[in-house]
Amino acid sequence: MKKISIAIDGPASSGKSTVAKILAKKLNYIYCDTGAMYRALTYLAIQKNIDFEDEKALSDLCLDHTISFQQTEKDQLVFIDGLEVTEAIRQPDVTNSVSIVAKHGAVREKMVELQQMIGRTGGVVMDGRDIGTAVLPEAEVKIFLVASVVERAERRYKENQQKGITTDFETLKEEIEHRDYLDSTREVSPLKQAEDAVKIDTTGMSIEEVVNTIEKVISKKN
Ligand code: CDP
Ligand code: CDP
Repeated sequence: MKKISIAIDGPASSGKSTVAKILAKKLNYIYCDTGAMYRALTYLAIQKNIDFEDEKALSDLCLDHTISFQQTEKDQLVFIDGLEVTEAIRQPDVTNSVSIVAKHGAVREKMVELQQMIGRTGGVVMDGRDIGTAVLPEAEVKIFLVASVVERAERRYKENQQKGITTDFETLKEEIEHRDYLDSTREVSPLKQAEDAVKIDTTGMSIEEVVNTIEKVISKKN
């Protein structure tokens, strides 16, 4: 079968990375977590005390440092200049600032360039906010995942519990809503369903059901 590009977009905790990883494994495709790239940049900005409104300094960071991935049997590891930051980029300080860093046009330009290089040969499952609209507008399959905010907050709550992190449900829900608001109202490539994307409301759906639904979309295109 021809190797195609699969773009998966949607708001926070809609299940993008979980299903993208499963699909990439099943298809033997590359998985590219573009959110991890914006998170890595935000982590660097925090380490270097860079003002989140300093667009030039932030975009220069993209040139001065190398963000890379390594696929293991269990997970995808993230590195900055060869140092592993997989866990560090999921911490609340990064999560609460990443949408501010990601709003800048100059930052997005650099990130999109890197992402397009990763996706240039096809055989990729890429997830994010602007994959179907800006990064891979020619992708053969575009999926837009949504779920109610309550369900998305519950998913994150359970995930945190499993990791032994105690969180307040209401705070988690508010943080998700706030990040969605920032991501969908920014000027440059806001979170938006591509016209030719297939929307899947995953509220009440298991991971397996979502994967099966996407596989059906893929088989129609292939
Ligand atoms: O996994 P989660 O939904 O928490 O978010 P993520 O995919 O790790 O993305 C973190 C943040 O990066 C998002 O809230 C966006 O602000 C930004 N992002 C973006 O602007 N464009 C992308 N293609 C991917 C992420
Ligand atoms: O990448 P994104 O932020 O869109 O979401 P995720 O990190 O893939 O999923 C957030 C959490 O929801 C994870 O703990 C998944 O296991 C869980 N999930 C779920 O319970 N049911 C689904 N249909 C999809 C994801």
